[in-house]
Amino acid sequence: MEKIQEKIRQLAKEKGYTILAHNYQMQEIQEIADYLGDSLQLARLATKLDTEKILFLGVDFMAETIKMLNPEKKVIVPVKAATCPMANSLEPEMIIEAKKKYNAPFVIYVNSTIKSKMYADVACTSANAVEIVKKLNSDIVLFGPDKNLAAYVARKTGKKVISVPGETGYCYVHNYIKIDDILKLKQKYPDAKVISHPEVSEEIQKISDYIGSTSQMEKIPGEVEDKTFIIVTEKDMVNKLKNKYKEKEFIPLYTAICNNMKKNTLKNVLKALENEEFEIEIDKEIADKAVLPIKKMFELME
Ligand code: 13P
Ligand code: SF4
Repeated sequence: MEKIQEKIRQLAKEKGYTILAHNYQMQEIQEIADYLGDSLQLARLATKLDTEKILFLGVDFMAETIKMLNPEKKVIVPVKAATCPMANSLEPEMIIEAKKKYNAPFVIYVNSTIKSKMYADVACTSANAVEIVKKLNSDIVLFGPDKNLAAYVARKTGKKVISVPGETGYCYVHNYIKIDDILKLKQKYPDAKVISHPEVSEEIQKISDYIGSTSQMEKIPGEVEDKTFIIVTEKDMVNKLKNKYKEKEFIPLYTAICNNMKKNTLKNVLKALENEEFEIEIDKEIADKAVLPIKKMFELME
């Protein structure tokens, strides 16, 4: 471990912080985390921790979800500006209008703002979107903001899934991955299996061997004999896979970079612990309403 990493670990221990980090964090950040996971795992885990303070390393909607589920805990992040552009593409008015027009439940992807969550019926992550939509007592569901995840859910459930806002709802990191890049990698590694995140375009979904959230991606190499995998998601996901399966080979897409996830650096993580900021603060009335779809999601998963 580098000196600064040791300093961070020491300070976190002294001040009573648990460090939670998302799978897309840089390798050096992954190394200092107490827990590394996908958005569902991290949200769940945060409700079971016995520490009163959490340092979260990911993007804002994830930290906010953790705070809403743990209003009594202190949740800090190193940079306030680490956001998710896709989350910001869905506005509350779009949800209100769609619900009026179709009279159907609105399933909100956890990659969304607090204000939008206030108007949705149930939340989901990429790990449980199919399961949640299957469990709803309706053949038509409204789903936003990710159109690619919506298309995946529609295929898997056979239900009519109307994506809101529609064409403009996507993650730029995944949506712009070029199918030709994957086909070239498949040619270069003919025995490789393609594992993709459901935020990729439908054409890439269709040539993938497996599709899943980052935690589901992590399980697949342990369940199959194959030795080589093309990992179609944010490039730093392979760090965790390489660490876990030393005898297997993982090919990342070096072009898939989430700039917001990379705003957390060892330097600003250290500063966050020294100053115990920036704290996530959410107005109680707003949080009480926005947390309901997340709680409903957990209820449906029981
Ligand atoms: P996961 O929940 O699969 O980790 O995905 C979060 C995300 O932001 C994907 O782009
Ligand atoms: Fe948002 Fe995409 Fe980054 Fe995930 S990878 S946080 S969806 S911009």
